[in-house]
Amino acid sequence: MSLSGKTALVTGGARGIGAATAAALAREGAGVVIVDIEQADGVVDGILANGGKAWWYQVDVSDHRAVEDMVRTAEGTAGPIGILVNNAGIISRGTVLDISFEEWNRILAVNVTGSFNCCKAVIPSMVERHDGRIVNITSVAGKIGDITAAPAYGTSKGAVNALTKSLARQLADYGIRVNAVAPHAIETDMSAQWSEEKRRAIIAEIPLHRLGLPADVAQAVVYLVSDAAGFITGEILDVNGGYLMD
Ligand SMILES: NC(=O)c1ccc[n+]([C@@H]2O[C@H](COP(=O)([O-])OP(=O)(O)OC[C@H]3O[C@@H](n4cnc5c(N)ncnc54)[C@H](O)[C@@H]3O)[C@@H](O)[C@H]2O)c1
Repeated sequence: MSLSGKTALVTGGARGIGAATAAALAREGAGVVIVDIEQADGVVDGILANGGKAWWYQVDVSDHRAVEDMVRTAEGTAGPIGILVNNAGIISRGTVLDISFEEWNRILAVNVTGSFNCCKAVIPSMVERHDGRIVNITSVAGKIGDITAAPAYGTSKGAVNALTKSLARQLADYGIRVNAVAPHAIETDMSAQWSEEKRRAIIAEIPLHRLGLPADVAQAVVYLVSDAAGFITGEILDVNGGYLMD
């Protein structure tokens, strides 16, 4: 699944699923631009040490001007972005009774508007080149609603699913494929807050009897952006150990 000659932009790549995805894309030969609100130098150093090409920019994806500036700068250095992985995301626990309006707005701003901002910034040059692959990292919560998260999270991921399909329809004529990966229960900082009891309860509901690893999601992304998935667009690919089969 060689991606050599391509440049990929991965948001939220400083850790977790984003870091694993950046490393996996680099292993396939893509140059990788990592964008995160945190420092991502460690992930970039790891890719460079393995002979890959990588750059990082500290940007909040919910800030559309900062995203546009970053994409312009990154394309000047790393070349045109041919692959976009919208992975940056935040969650909060609780219910509709305790979520604040600020929290609701922040989750939608990062998860939905942040994904849109990055699409808006990279799509014009993809259209010009008649080539592009976009993968949005959504969640099982976007399909079945929130189980333990505050309701803004599932709502945001449902919106990302609709964004994925809307862009897939609008951009197919331009040779741009847009898909999503919907993980459930992946071992990252996001899931590290679970108690041992909760982890056991979650694993008990997964037919493959384990939590997912960041690499499980990363490999699904690599497939969707590769030529092997050339006839796939508008797909929401479950990576959930069989938890939801729809
Ligand atoms: N871990 C899971 O079980 C799970 C399940 C379903 C979906 N997901 C989704 O996968 C994606 C990655 O999750 P993860 O588990 O690796 O989480 P994580 O918290 O380990 O990593 C998220 C990354 O996004 C970055 N980020 C947060 N806000 C940002 C912003 N405003 N601008 C730029 N970067 C920002 C963080 O700094 C961090 O590096 C998220 O979209 C999440 O919703 C995760």
